[in-house]
Amino acid sequence: MKKTITILSVLLFFVSSAESLPVYDSTIRPIVLQGAMNVETDIFISALNESHDITIGHWRYILGKIDDYPVIVSVTRCGVANASVSTALAIETFNPCAVINQGTAGAHDPELKRGDIVIASDCFNSSAWKAHPLKVGEGVDYRYIDPLDMNFYDEYENGERIIFLPVDEKLKALALSVKDKYSDRKIVEGRIATSDAWENRSDRILFFHEEFGSSCEEMETFAVAKVCRIYGIPFLGVRIISNSMLTGEEFIPETGHDCQTFVIEVVKKYIKEMN
Ligand code: 5AD
Repeated sequence: MKKTITILSVLLFFVSSAESLPVYDSTIRPIVLQGAMNVETDIFISALNESHDITIGHWRYILGKIDDYPVIVSVTRCGVANASVSTALAIETFNPCAVINQGTAGAHDPELKRGDIVIASDCFNSSAWKAHPLKVGEGVDYRYIDPLDMNFYDEYENGERIIFLPVDEKLKALALSVKDKYSDRKIVEGRIATSDAWENRSDRILFFHEEFGSSCEEMETFAVAKVCRIYGIPFLGVRIISNSMLTGEEFIPETGHDCQTFVIEVVKKYIKEMN
């Protein structure tokens, strides 16, 4: 009886694990293109040839080809938890050669306006900080904080504290090399601030820009960069400014389309260079 139960549980394990993570059969490592929302992924999806959809857990992946090269569009959904899990699942399942996260963002740099594009040099978790102590009645002042390391206490990499996570240099250079095609907008290298918050207080936006050097804010980039770093997968972040408190421009989600069009140019060049 005991033996039967053991055999059954082993069988069940294989059946359930086969169901939860599909087997991806590709001798060529695909490129994963991520966006959180439909307006940040629809252009990618329509650019795919021979495409089909799969869902893993709560997250959608559309498998297809661009210029005959395997590309997977990942709809991460919004926020750091969704971004982390969908990235880990994509890496475990598809073993990509690169992950590009892109989408909309709010400006931190007063020089950036809606439609401008930020190619990340690096990114950080703008909600990871330890506040300087204040006693009851001393108020709340957002300015007195020390940033926390990406790995927190137990996991410092070689004793080094890492706050700003760099992107892959080759992917960044590739993205920058495409920028001359665009004369209608600014395309700059910058620092992306990630958290689950949407800041609309201009002074705090400027505080992050001046103290931490951030160009823009959004809700996914750092989470993806961190997971890619853990797995050793080349990562690039690209964001289009869709809103700015500093210029008084409201959120237009459809700016996400132009970001995808730009990233497709980058991907096509990447594929060409790989070939
Ligand atoms: N602050 C935070 N997230 C923003 N996004 C666009 N603009 C901002 C902003 N100012 C993006 C996030 C998230 C979605 C709500 O839009 O990355 O996915």
